[in-house]
Amino acid sequence: EDGSGKGAALITAVAKRLHNIDKYLYAMRLSDETLIDVMARFRREMKNGLSRDFNPTAAVKMLPTFVRSIPDGSEKGDFIALDLGGSYFRILRVKVSHEKKQTVQMESEIYNTPEDIMHGSGTRLFDHVAECLGDFMEKQQIKDKKLPVGFTFSFPCRQSKLDEGILITWTKRFKASGVEGADVVRLLNRAIKKRGDYDADIMAVVNDTVGTMMTCGFDDQRCEVGLIIGTGTNACYMEEMRHIDLVEGDEGRMCINTEWGAFGDDGSLEDIRTEFDREIDRGSLNPGKQLFEKMVSGLYMGELVRLILVKMAKEGLLFEGRITPELLTKGKFETKHVSAIEKSKEGLNKAKEILTRLGVEPSHEDCIAVQHVCTIVSFRSANLVASTLGAILNQLRDNKGVGRLRTTVGVDGSLYKMHPQYARRLHKTTRRLVPDSEVRFLLSESGSGKGAAMVTAVAYRLGDAGNR
Ligand code: GLC
Repeated sequence: EDGSGKGAALITAVAKRLHNIDKYLYAMRLSDETLIDVMARFRREMKNGLSRDFNPTAAVKMLPTFVRSIPDGSEKGDFIALDLGGSYFRILRVKVSHEKKQTVQMESEIYNTPEDIMHGSGTRLFDHVAECLGDFMEKQQIKDKKLPVGFTFSFPCRQSKLDEGILITWTKRFKASGVEGADVVRLLNRAIKKRGDYDADIMAVVNDTVGTMMTCGFDDQRCEVGLIIGTGTNACYMEEMRHIDLVEGDEGRMCINTEWGAFGDDGSLEDIRTEFDREIDRGSLNPGKQLFEKMVSGLYMGELVRLILVKMAKEGLLFEGRITPELLTKGKFETKHVSAIEKSKEGLNKAKEILTRLGVEPSHEDCIAVQHVCTIVSFRSANLVASTLGAILNQLRDNKGVGRLRTTVGVDGSLYKMHPQYARRLHKTTRRLVPDSEVRFLLSESGSGKGAAMVTAVAYRLGDAGNR
């Protein structure tokens, strides 16, 4: 028998199968034309969110943060940073000193937040946060000190000053009762007072995007965008005060937390949402909300792939039609599996392992097919983020009135960091969508805690004369 002939036939068969998946998931493969259109739509959303008249009904909230500059290198002191709302609940101690040059020393602990606390009463949630903070201060032997605290709280908050954050709505995995509409600084203060075993001075509430921008701004003065692609997705950037109707004054700039996860909540993305996106939304904690986030972020990506695999298997396009209880179980296919399967060398072996655990007895061709599905879903995510980020970059360029924008984007988030191809694809698409720019993507190595401490440090230095 002619071996190479067989090989060629096999390759043709695989190519045909991939082509069929491309056709099957046609609606998830967004053309540049569509991405440019999404970019224009998001630019309009930004404009609406910033305007006094349209903000109340705008899907994208464009929240003023009362952070007016990135760190200038003169910050110093001993701070605590709380980080709630991402993959982990972290508490950090950040010491910023000023010998010859500014140096930062950090220590941190990760605390568990069990599901029943995330979904229970707000009082219990903040009691839990206060308890963890007490434990941390005990370990650091600083229970007798009243250190300034920066609170990274990664949810949409209305602020009228730096040390206030009124939760608009829970997103992602959280849904504790009695917190929406309340000031999280007051809730935390109350929980700390109730204990009475230590004191804390909460100086600032900071979104994780803002913390990331500040962390990266510490190393690169040009950083004026903060981007998160993790459990959720969101971005902030430095906007001209004269464009921010909701805050008095026209001088200088202020950081705006876009809350772009809510893009599409008013129906503006219906033409690109698929049946799978709708199914994800129906099964979520917050139906009808955070529709862009549900197409993009790590909390939903694995589940999106699983829903596609189930449908394909049902139609006999995968696993010879085998469907197992595991494959049908929500959450059994995780975003970290997408990352593993897309690894260039071991990806197919990982696919075999993961699918075997789901009991579907995958053939080699099934593994190739599933890898292709993962690629389409994660590529769509990176492309969508490139569009919304592109809108922010265009806004920055127009604000500066320059032909060519040179800027730095600070980035953090588990999906961006763990997925083997995500970052490269995002960078490439962004540069293609905004050709007249020179964008540096800077990974926040130490998370947003350092940035939250920086915001706190600035507030502390300015004291009552500043934002407070
Ligand atoms: C969600 C939150 C937002 C946060 C993002 C990333 O979109 O609403 O505040 O920045 O997740 O954690």
